[in-house]
Amino acid sequence: MIYHDDCMNGMQKQGDSSIGLIVTDPTYGISFNLNEWDVDVPSLDVWREAYRVLKMGRYALIMSSARQDVLALMCKRIEDAGFTLSTSPMLWVYKSGFTKSTNISKVIDQRNGCSRVVIGKKKSGIGSGNTYAFGSDNKGGSDLVDISLPCSEDGIRLDGCYAGFQPKSTLEVIIVAFKGDIEPPTQYQEKQSQNISNTFVFIPKPSTSEKLTSEYGEKHPTMKPIDLMSYLINMYYVDGVVMDPFMGSGTTALACIKRDIKYIGFEREKTYYEYCMKRIEHFSKTLYRGNQQ
Ligand SMILES: C[S@@+](CC[C@H](N)C(=O)[O-])C[C@H]1O[C@@H](n2cnc3c(N)ncnc32)[C@H](O)[C@@H]1O
Repeated sequence: MIYHDDCMNGMQKQGDSSIGLIVTDPTYGISFNLNEWDVDVPSLDVWREAYRVLKMGRYALIMSSARQDVLALMCKRIEDAGFTLSTSPMLWVYKSGFTKSTNISKVIDQRNGCSRVVIGKKKSGIGSGNTYAFGSDNKGGSDLVDISLPCSEDGIRLDGCYAGFQPKSTLEVIIVAFKGDIEPPTQYQEKQSQNISNTFVFIPKPSTSEKLTSEYGEKHPTMKPIDLMSYLINMYYVDGVVMDPFMGSGTTALACIKRDIKYIGFEREKTYYEYCMKRIEHFSKTLYRGNQQ
């Protein structure tokens, strides 16, 4: 069941220790694409409620930006709420995105109003001199860009200098939070003992068919892939209801539907809530595969 409600309100209506697993992708507080709902990481009170409703000995899998300031604050609040964070996180690697930086010489030449002489063409992307990549399998774009010579005095002096050079993340962190002191055996540990590497989860970002783009357009800016939420549920689910307090477009619910697991979630924004319900209606029949693991 998904409610159009603030998660704090929603969770307050749930009983103590009534939830078997929390899988969620909350706000990161980085104003992603200038979205108003992304102004802060969830408060300590939100995590206290999440802790209260979770069964003892169970997990909350909480996604976070890999940005160090966001991750530190997120972990601090989750831990202060009572969760144990004494394990490593998992890393969702989506392998897209690359770093861009500004060619200072070009900017200065433009400012000085001189025209650079084009002496040839090259492929854009990695190794083109315009772009550097981290952890990406992007082998460069197919577009051709100009190779040009600097024309102003400062442009010549600063040729080869780049600014704004920052690693652009190609991953997000999944914080593994535990309620209790002694970890019970879970599917996660069983699967670890089968030597399945699960620190890095390599799953691409959702496709347009998963987003239903042709039907509804780009409706949710931070949608996660269904396979990612399914993976987390397959690893950590024991029994009971799965809760996602920040449901967005309903991806956690879709992963639950796949395995016929009961879910509860909250989404505060009306447009996202309505879109979430449409996605669930659209995918319910095709995704459902009974209670298989
Ligand atoms: C990062 S998105 C979740 C995206 C989701 N995992 C998906 O695949 O679509 C976070 C969502 O939480 C919602 N939200 C933010 N604060 C909330 C709150 N206090 N209660 C309920 N929903 C909230 C936002 O509207 C946004 O849709």
